[in-house]
This record gives sequence, structure tokens and C-alpha cells, in this order.
Amino acid sequence: MSKAANWINLNGKVAHVTGGGKGIGRAIATALSMAGAKVMVSDINEESAEETAIEIDGSYLQLDVSNSEAVYSALSETESVFGGIDILVNNAGLYEGYGGPIESISDEKWRALWSVNVDGVFYCCRTAADIMKRRGGGKIINVSSTQARTPGVGVSYDGSKAAVEMMTKTLALELAPFNINVNALAPGPTWVRDGEAPPVSAQNQFNNEDPLSRAVGNRIERLPLGHWGDPMEQGKAAVFLASEMSAFVTGAYLPCDGGWLAL
Ligand SMILES: NC(=O)c1ccc[n+]([C@@H]2O[C@H](COP(=O)([O-])OP(=O)(O)OC[C@H]3O[C@@H](n4cnc5c(N)ncnc54)[C@H](O)[C@@H]3O)[C@@H](O)[C@H]2O)c1
Repeated sequence: MSKAANWINLNGKVAHVTGGGKGIGRAIATALSMAGAKVMVSDINEESAEETAIEIDGSYLQLDVSNSEAVYSALSETESVFGGIDILVNNAGLYEGYGGPIESISDEKWRALWSVNVDGVFYCCRTAADIMKRRGGGKIINVSSTQARTPGVGVSYDGSKAAVEMMTKTLALELAPFNINVNALAPGPTWVRDGEAPPVSAQNQFNNEDPLSRAVGNRIERLPLGHWGDPMEQGKAAVFLASEMSAFVTGAYLPCDGGWLAL
């Protein structure tokens, strides 16, 4: 194997991917497994986690990342099954049905989204940091979004993803002395509806009367790379952040967005 191929080889590494039952999480779990990692797939939906695990010859468990005790148990179980955790991907996130307008966002809806998108990332990082320190290092990948920097889904979601970006930078500094790299992966529009082809045009997909929806629709229409992202494109970026290829990268926010943030 060439030296460059070795840099991307994850043989002997253990990964835990949250929200790995479908969409981007499933693709990231698949890509990490294709690069050689042993993968523990977790999801609030146990059946879908099992499906992914079967496809990639990995393991699975049911996990609601908004429950701190459950997070502690799930990551501890990953450590005891595989002997450690080298790569944590905080992918689980809510967005569909959580948009605005602001008056329509109840306290319960606000808390539900933040408890997954922000609390969940915090709980998983806290437990993984301890496990990785004992292991002598690791890689944490927090899935943020282009919406951390450009409004789109709504005040709750966009704010939560900006929080994830800042948590990533803070933890990158705090954990650098322990050889733990912490980076954010920021997907742009990525088509996750199984069995349905992405629309060629964003027209009719977005509500022109709503400024946020219009902003997203306009950007998708003008996306430099000209097509919706495929989940595996996020998987490839995650392999980069999980591997030796990104040894000197920490505290970064990596847009994988077809040029969205360049617009
Ligand atoms: N699809 C996109 O265009 C896009 C763009 C930017 C960022 N993202 C981010 O990427 C991540 C994955 O998005 P996706 O599009 O694949 O979403 P998705 O809805 O297709 O999949 C999300 C997965 O997370 C699981 N999940 C939900 N709540 C959970 C919880 N409390 N605990 C554990 N698992 C839970 C779901 O069961 C599901 O399997 C999210 O963080 C999302 O915000 C997606």
C-alpha cells in the first residue's frame, strides 16, 4: 500500500457515529467502515441503527443523545466492546419541522431541538474526551451546517449549529494537549430522502413568501457545483477528518457544501 493510502487507512481504529441509522450518519458510518474502522452505529431509532450495522458489518445500539446518562452508557459500552474510541462523529441532529416563524416555535420545540443538536454534542464530547484521553488521543467530528453561518432553517436550528461550531473551537484548544483533534463538518444541502431523486430545480421547493426559505432556494439554484450533495460526499469528508490526512487540522469548520458559502 502506498504511503498516501496508509494515511487514509483506519484499520484498527474504533468509531462511534450518532444518528447513524439514516442519511448523512449512515453514509459517514459506511465511509469510515470502508476505510477500515470498526464502527458502532447509534441512533434513537434502533431498527435503523441495526440496518446500517448489518450493511457495514458493524455493531449498533439504541441511543437518544439528549439523555446524558444514556450517552455515558453507550460510549462506555463502545469502549468495553472495542477497547476504546478513536473517532467520535456527533451527527445526530433535528431540523425537519423545527423551522419558524419564531412565534410558532413553542418552548417544547425549542428545547427539543437544542437538547439534541447542542446538549447531545456536549454530552458525547464530554464522555468521549475522557475515553480518548485514556486512549492517548482521538478525533472528534461535530456535524454542524452551512446554516451556522448563513440563515436558512430557522432561529432554533441555525443558532444550534453556530453553537456547535464554537463548541468545536473551544474543545479543540482544550483537548489539543491530549492529542485529540476536534473539527466541525459543515454539510451544505445534502439529499437524504431514500428512493427519491433530488429535484433538478429548487423552484417550487421553497416558499417565496418566506425570507428564510427564499434565501435557501436562491442559494440552491445558484450552487456553484450545480447539484444537491450526496450523503457519501459528507462521508468522504468525514474520513479526511478522521484520518492521518488531517493530522494538523483542529478547530476547523470544514464546509462540504458545493460552494454554498462561497456565494
Ligand atoms: N441533509 C442536509 O442537507 C444537512 C445539511 C447540513 C447539516 N446537516 C446535519 O447533518 C446531520 C444529519 O442530517 P441528515 O440530513 O442525515 O438527517 P436525517 O433526519 O436524515 O437523519 C438524522 C438521524 O438522526 C437520528 N436522530 C434524531 N434524533 C436523535 C436523537 N435524539 N438521538 C440519536 N439519534 C437521533 C434520526 O433517527 C436519524 O437516523 C444533522 O446534524 C443535520 O443537522 C444536514
